[in-house]
Amino acid sequence: MSEYGERTALEPDPDQADLVIRMDEVSVRRGPTTLLHGVSWSVELDERWVILGPNGAGKTTLLRLAAAELHPTTGTVALLGERLGRTDLFELRPRIGFCSAALAARVPGAEIVRDVVVSAGYGLVGRWREEYDRSDLARADRLLDTIGMWRFAERPFGTLSEGERKRVLIARALMADPELLLLDEPAAGLDLGGREDLVARLSTLAEDADAPASVLVTHHVEEIPPGYSHAMLLRNGGVVAQGLLSDVITEQNLSRTFGLPLKVHYEAGRYSARRA
Ligand SMILES: Nc1ncnc2c1ncn2[C@@H]1O[C@H](COP(=O)(O)OP(=O)(O)OP(=O)(O)O)[C@@H](O)[C@H]1O
Ligand SMILES: [Mg+2]
Repeated sequence: MSEYGERTALEPDPDQADLVIRMDEVSVRRGPTTLLHGVSWSVELDERWVILGPNGAGKTTLLRLAAAELHPTTGTVALLGERLGRTDLFELRPRIGFCSAALAARVPGAEIVRDVVVSAGYGLVGRWREEYDRSDLARADRLLDTIGMWRFAERPFGTLSEGERKRVLIARALMADPELLLLDEPAAGLDLGGREDLVARLSTLAEDADAPASVLVTHHVEEIPPGYSHAMLLRNGGVVAQGLLSDVITEQNLSRTFGLPLKVHYEAGRYSARRA
């Protein structure tokens, strides 16, 4: 008998068919340090999740598991129905769009913006190909246009501002038409206008029924785009609360997560928080 009971691990489970992410009792340890412990989490196709928690809580570690960049030390992770450790990561990764500061740092400054976006479809970063398909180039331009960056298409990536780079990387994350979109602090470093613009664009994307399941990591409740459905709060590598956004984003839960008494305000789809 397998650990799945009577079924063999290769048989799809009809109850799990819509699960984009499934983690069971996951921990990640590095030497004596526990980065994540006891995390069980399911994300369905039509869900949009926000992950909140203080610095060092384990948010990026969780997202890297969901991006198939990392294996758990214990527990199991299944992404898009494929169990990590039993699947070809090179086939799995292109199905997942991931946007993070670590990726931004890997893009060579001389790379042209359009190439940064189009190369995602070829699983490349910072490599120039002889030629890309015309249809792929057209898609890259469309995505740049959607995110308000089309007029920057010919610019070297290194000449862009922080906020402009973030937007290009979101276009890149969407390039390969991913089934799962992972965004690690996409609003960090943006000015107020840039943040509001990004929140509005992510909200539009969230409300698009054809958009991929999404997970957004942030430190700030102000950055939760309207239309996001679920939330997880992390502290010290453990889950404080998870579930429907409105159940999870409470004064009590946020105060516990961030370790200070907080007052939370909700108005017209947007949250804000300050010390009580
Ligand atoms: N290889 C490693 N060895 C030891 N500790 C590590 C290692 N990688 C990460 N950590 C620690 O694990 C914890 C979680 O890191 P992680 O990057 O997931 O946090 P985070 O929630 O994304 O924080 P931030 O909000 O600052 O981005 C941190 O305390 C970090 O120092
Ligand atoms: Mg992080």
